[in-house]
Amino acid sequence: MRGVRNPSPGARFPAHVRVESAGGPYEVRLGAGVLDSLPLVLAEVAPASRYVVIADDVVDELYAERVATMLDAAGEPATRLCFPAGEASKTRETWARLSDAMLAAGCGRDCAVVALGGGVVGDIAGFVAATFMRGVPVVQVPTTLLAMVDASVGGKTGVDVPAGKNLIGAFHPPRAVVADPDTLRTLPLEQLRAGLAEAVKHGAIADADHLAWIEASREPLLAAEPAVLAALIRRSVEIKARIVMADEHEQGERRLLNFGHTLGHAIEAASGYRLLHGEAVAIGMVLEARLGERLGLTEPGTAEALRQLLDAIGLPTALPPAWDATTVVAATRTDKKAHAGRVRYALLRRPGEGLGEEAGWAVAVADEVLVQVLASEG
Ligand SMILES: NC(=O)c1ccc[n+]([C@@H]2O[C@H](COP(=O)([O-])OP(=O)(O)OC[C@H]3O[C@@H](n4cnc5c(N)ncnc54)[C@H](O)[C@@H]3O)[C@@H](O)[C@H]2O)c1
Ligand SMILES: [Zn+2]
Repeated sequence: MRGVRNPSPGARFPAHVRVESAGGPYEVRLGAGVLDSLPLVLAEVAPASRYVVIADDVVDELYAERVATMLDAAGEPATRLCFPAGEASKTRETWARLSDAMLAAGCGRDCAVVALGGGVVGDIAGFVAATFMRGVPVVQVPTTLLAMVDASVGGKTGVDVPAGKNLIGAFHPPRAVVADPDTLRTLPLEQLRAGLAEAVKHGAIADADHLAWIEASREPLLAAEPAVLAALIRRSVEIKARIVMADEHEQGERRLLNFGHTLGHAIEAASGYRLLHGEAVAIGMVLEARLGERLGLTEPGTAEALRQLLDAIGLPTALPPAWDATTVVAATRTDKKAHAGRVRYALLRRPGEGLGEEAGWAVAVADEVLVQVLASEG
């Protein structure tokens, strides 16, 4: 990979990354300690008569008390709601329970939701906010690396259903994102790694320098050194923000963010959600890079370069042994990216560059080709 550049020379924190959205502009506020500014941020961008702080039970235990106390001290009444942690909770049932609890607590159109947690909380609390009384504001407060670099930005919300991941949902951009890397101190290492998978994705589709920097910085990243994590988050958010601003509703360039995800979602679902989202995406990226090479669209060596980097981070890079390729391929067919019967894949041209507009951002691939790629040893 190409030369290493500091992704944030002289970067100052807190950093504010501005995102333009059809629902209005919002800022990603990033930096150690920014959580303390939450009451001010809420008063500024989402004034409400009541705040509903939604977390999963792990995050509720760790951070919700602190957030509720801060809001209380600022004279901003808060109601805490939580649900069991894990992807298995990202369902219509949880959405219904949270929405009913808000109704029972007397929340009206003048409430606002604070999504406090990882991507599961962000997606489901965002969807609750998108639909409650036809839409109330949400402020995203991501507490996993994955949610900081990816899920909290861009406005996609939703739930999983038996037919597949994220198939029911809405675009509902946040009024602000408040990302405090101090909250990552409590995050388990496997979750940190899963978040790095999405940062690798950002480098892979749009920024070879980011990719090289991650490779060079992986030791301090895995040691969760705050300054290095903050630099990583900032660059990834900048990349994601740029792409989302160019194409908020995924008519074009935003499809690139699905690199590794068409197979990744299928693998995640086929594992019964035992693989973490980021782990499934790591496998998906390697296999989709290999698919691109087989189709002659991706520079040879790309899949191996990605495999080495993900492996060095400690992420899985191949399907678990004994897995049947046809089961995974069958699972891709419910993906939203399916179009006229063929599933579309956002592929790379080379590390740091996705297929461009001239290739339609994503290409339709026949199931047979996919089975060959999955079944081959690589
Ligand atoms: N909307 C989007 O654009 C988008 C983008 C990427 C991923 N996603 C979604 O995000 C989800 C994955 O997100 P995730 O990886 O954050 O999973 P997650 O929300 O399940 O969090 C992972 C685990 O970490 C725990 N946790 C969270 N913060 C913690 C902290 N600070 N300290 C200790 N433990 C903590 C949680 O309780 C959970 O057990 C998937 O459902 C995926 O589809 C959405
Ligand atoms: Zn993802």
